[in-house]
Amino acid sequence: MVPGDLPTIYAYQLDPEANRMAVTNPRTREGFDAHWARSLSDPGVIARAITADGELVGHIACFVMDGRDSVGYWIDRAHWGRGIASAALGRFLGIVTKRPLHARAARSNAGSVRVLTKCGFVLTGYEWAEATERFPACEEAVFVLESGAAS
Ligand SMILES: CC(C)(COP(=O)(O)OP(=O)(O)OC[C@H]1O[C@@H](n2cnc3c(N)ncnc32)[C@H](O)[C@@H]1OP(=O)(O)O)[C@@H](O)C(=O)NCCC(=O)NCCS
Repeated sequence: MVPGDLPTIYAYQLDPEANRMAVTNPRTREGFDAHWARSLSDPGVIARAITADGELVGHIACFVMDGRDSVGYWIDRAHWGRGIASAALGRFLGIVTKRPLHARAARSNAGSVRVLTKCGFVLTGYEWAEATERFPACEEAVFVLESGAAS
């Protein structure tokens, strides 16, 4: 990801339906800019733009959350259901080779749960997560990808 990708990614993360699915609150312009300024200059963050037919359709990133290497991704709603997230995560797991890798999705986010499972992540349980500025309270599905797992 490069700074030129950010206006498009900002617009994608405002989508109410995507936020309902992911159980997230969209970032404000200020919060978004601060988040990505930090992330793009942090050598511990690996972020990639996802393109389809030459168009920027989303992003995927590996970052440290609660001391664990974690992955997250977001696809523009206009491109859902085309196998893009599954393909992007599969390829990303060839770029980011550290294991274990962790991921969390709202339990209700059937699409994301399916993407993770297809790529070899194993469900380790469910945890209740209290509301934060970024996330409404929800039950989260907790996943891990161990070394040697298929991706
Ligand atoms: C979740 C998300 C990444 C899925 O992206 P996508 O490119 O549409 O996913 P894919 O096309 O690769 O679909 C993967 C699988 O999930 C299934 N799926 C996708 N959306 C689904 C939904 N809403 N309900 C049930 N299953 C769904 C697909 O049928 C497919 O399963 P299959 O291969 O068995 O047919 C996308 O909807 C998104 O960005 N949502 C908003 C942000 C978000 O939730 N990010 C993840 C936060 S943890």
